Amino acid sequence: MEADVIDKIIEKHPKEPSSIIQVLLDVQSELYYLPEDVLKYVSAELKVPISRTYNLATFYKAFSLKPKGKHPISVCTGTACYVEGADKLMEQFERELGIKDGETTADKKFSLESVRCLGCCGLAPVVTVGKNLHGKLPSSKVGKILKQYK
Ligand code: FES
Repeated sequence: MEADVIDKIIEKHPKEPSSIIQVLLDVQSELYYLPEDVLKYVSAELKVPISRTYNLATFYKAFSLKPKGKHPISVCTGTACYVEGADKLMEQFERELGIKDGETTADKKFSLESVRCLGCCGLAPVVTVGKNLHGKLPSSKVGKILKQYK
């Protein structure tokens, strides 16, 4: 665990249980995920029961317990997107990045995952890269999209 990084994050907030979400958000944006030892450390420092910290870390979509890339890519494989070629889109991302669904690139820049319906089916097929949404995305444009984030 990078304890000095975590200590610096904790120091930015009042050292009390109510800071837990903000601290977890900061750890997530620094490490791109919440490692188990960090959850335990933060819980002890802020005097929050570990069960509550785990509940928060698994409840909110902003958090990930698995390593993610700096630019997490979500490919919607819901019905509307599937009909519009989401499977080809996923294959193209896998080819361009050299990883499979659920994996992270070795340089930790990108992670790839399939998700169920992002709630904007009219834009199918839909992909999000971090907070950015790319709708009606043909697989031929995958390389161009990735270049924007390199
Ligand atoms: S199925 Fe993809 S956004 Fe709804």
